[in-house]
Amino acid sequence: MAAVPSPLLSGTHGPIGEESVYDDLPVVGELPADLNGAFFRNGPDAHYAGTGRYHWFDGDGMLHAVYFDRGRVRYRNRWVRTACFLEEQAAGRALWPGIMDPPRRDRPDMPIKDTSNTDVKFHAGRLITMWYRSGQPYHVDPWTLATLGPADFDGTLRTHVSAHSKVDEQADEFVYFDYGKEWPYMSFGIAGADGRVRHTLPVELPGPSLPHDMAFTKTHVVLHDLSLGFDPEALAAGRHKLRFFADRPARFAVVPRDGTERDIRWFEAEPCFIYHVINAWHEDDELVMVACRYRTPRRLAGDADEERFARMIAQLQMDAYLYEWRFNLRTGTTRERAIDDTLNSEFPMMNAWLQGLPTRYSYNILMKNRELGAQFAGIAKYDCRDGSFTAWSEGDHFWYSEAPFAPSDAAATEDDGYLVSFVTNLREATTEIQVFDARSRNLGHGPVARIPLPRRVPHGFHSTWVSAKRLGRPG
Ligand SMILES: [Fe+2]
Repeated sequence: MAAVPSPLLSGTHGPIGEESVYDDLPVVGELPADLNGAFFRNGPDAHYAGTGRYHWFDGDGMLHAVYFDRGRVRYRNRWVRTACFLEEQAAGRALWPGIMDPPRRDRPDMPIKDTSNTDVKFHAGRLITMWYRSGQPYHVDPWTLATLGPADFDGTLRTHVSAHSKVDEQADEFVYFDYGKEWPYMSFGIAGADGRVRHTLPVELPGPSLPHDMAFTKTHVVLHDLSLGFDPEALAAGRHKLRFFADRPARFAVVPRDGTERDIRWFEAEPCFIYHVINAWHEDDELVMVACRYRTPRRLAGDADEERFARMIAQLQMDAYLYEWRFNLRTGTTRERAIDDTLNSEFPMMNAWLQGLPTRYSYNILMKNRELGAQFAGIAKYDCRDGSFTAWSEGDHFWYSEAPFAPSDAAATEDDGYLVSFVTNLREATTEIQVFDARSRNLGHGPVARIPLPRRVPHGFHSTWVSAKRLGRPG
């Protein structure tokens, strides 16, 4: 196969291919004194470019960390040393094709490359990196970013773990899910503060599904079986082709966190696809879930339309609006509504300390679709009660990264804190860390502090904020 360099492997999209530490970074503006902790972001950075069609999910996972300590700012980045990364490093070349190409038949243990490049969370004193298509999670030291090895939870983990597994910060519990092509097709589990899995439950589906996220409340989990899946004919031939089934209702499994198979309750809703959940909680008899719902047509006008839609999702073009589902645990019925359908926004973040409890605010990235996938074009703060928002962008040639909410040291209210984002100037190929005041409508005034980096940070996926109190000290 002739190697065609992908545009996603050059320019502002291209890998940086180096690991650096920058201490005492200069700050432009005023860095809040009560912003203390660390911002971690995962994303692709191809160590060796493969020969096939490159997709963002193919690039080796690289963590970028920014530490805020009483006015001092330090940056470092490192690749996640996954099993595939180490094998390719030993060989000195790419050994796996990308996810858009046929998988390796000679490696039934690893037919496609698990890059662990998609998500990062902090639990029981360590970072956990995860891949979008449920894979092997890795433990990473939060201070050195050294890979500690596959996360096996003291030998108690029996499944893969998907990106968007979550942390209940107040309980220090890791609430995870797994899905795949083998029966029962989905499961979830909970690891306690001791880092050991204490509960797992298979959640049987009619067949393979392609969920991307899940939700939890203080007592329940919500698992997704949506209207997007693999094309059955292609799957039978060993290929992974996405297909949107416009007539297949979205299904949500609501299960007590410690529940058994008998406790699984399914709720149906309009056919849809969801990348990312914002939060879920209980209000009287209802379990409320708020998410960015993909703008899905009620009917697809034939095969071409279906193909176009599935291709959009495969190429990470975003078209999503703020949406709410209410699952009534007494009657078994679902109510749903658009909270706001004016913005195209995604990669939502919220005050993660309050995850599973009633919350009001979501901090989203404004999406602009380009041929190579969605550009992360700005930041918006949403009030999820009435859909009102405040937004900020410096212009078309800026690219923001998912911006986690960082509570101030003595946060008294839900939005008492900051947003932290890597912001790349596409014209100049430079990146700075920007800090926004999350309170009230202050976001619309732009960043309160800018921290220019000596070099670019490539575009990536998911991130997390770990407050100084949770992070502890290096040890
Ligand atoms: Fe995601």
